[in-house]
Amino acid sequence: MAVELKTKEHIRGIRKAGRIVAACHKALSKRIAPGVTTQEIDRFVERFMLDRGAIPAQKGYKGYPFATCASVNEVVCHGFPDSEPLEAGDIVTIDMVADVDGWKADSAWTYAIGRTNNAVEKLLLTAEQALVDGIKQAVLGNRLGDIGYAVQTRAERAGFEVVTAFAGHGNGKSVHEFPEVLHSGIRGQGMKLEEGMVITIEPILTAGKADVYITTDGWTARTRDGAWAAQFEHTVAITKAGPIILTRWE
Ligand code: MF3
Ligand code: CO
Repeated sequence: MAVELKTKEHIRGIRKAGRIVAACHKALSKRIAPGVTTQEIDRFVERFMLDRGAIPAQKGYKGYPFATCASVNEVVCHGFPDSEPLEAGDIVTIDMVADVDGWKADSAWTYAIGRTNNAVEKLLLTAEQALVDGIKQAVLGNRLGDIGYAVQTRAERAGFEVVTAFAGHGNGKSVHEFPEVLHSGIRGQGMKLEEGMVITIEPILTAGKADVYITTDGWTARTRDGAWAAQFEHTVAITKAGPIILTRWE
């Protein structure tokens, strides 16, 4: 299970795709509002990528039928876009992968629709901060367990659980590469981080129990207890100069 280390040239390639993903998320952050459907969001994302010379790489990946995953409220991830209008107070995670010249970049973001209550706000802020904490640990000399530990600690101190059924991953010419990046763990354990690793960190936090199930569509993951879930994901390169967020919003 070899990890493919990337050269500076490769990382530049992934960053090209990452810039499009980031710009697309930024555009979505201004568009997502009550009444918008996830189908409309999906079409917007697909158009946005194609217009910029990128391919929406989730479409067709292992048979997944859409450009985006759109996961509303208690949907944990891999939700199908549909014609249901989003309502004020909902949250939706939009996950997307762009491919430019074969290089992939992957980022998910949870958006609040209109106003949300304080508890939901806290879930979103904590999940985003857990991602930030994880990224800070993505430095040479550390191990994967340091990333997982940082994410898990942030989540649990705020009273949330990490959904451990899903993990981050290596990223490059393929959507999913080695290593698997767990969002829980023990400091100093797991694979050593090396220069040229490109990984995603993508914690999913829930306000309830972390148990999930897959619905009959074969993709949509929901919490068993119906508690809401939030996810923030970046594609990150590990370099001598520290972690570089390749999907950072500009
Ligand atoms: N972007 C997702 C991830 O973070 C990929 C989901 S698989 C798909 O790993 F088929 F839904 F695209
Ligand atoms: Co991912």
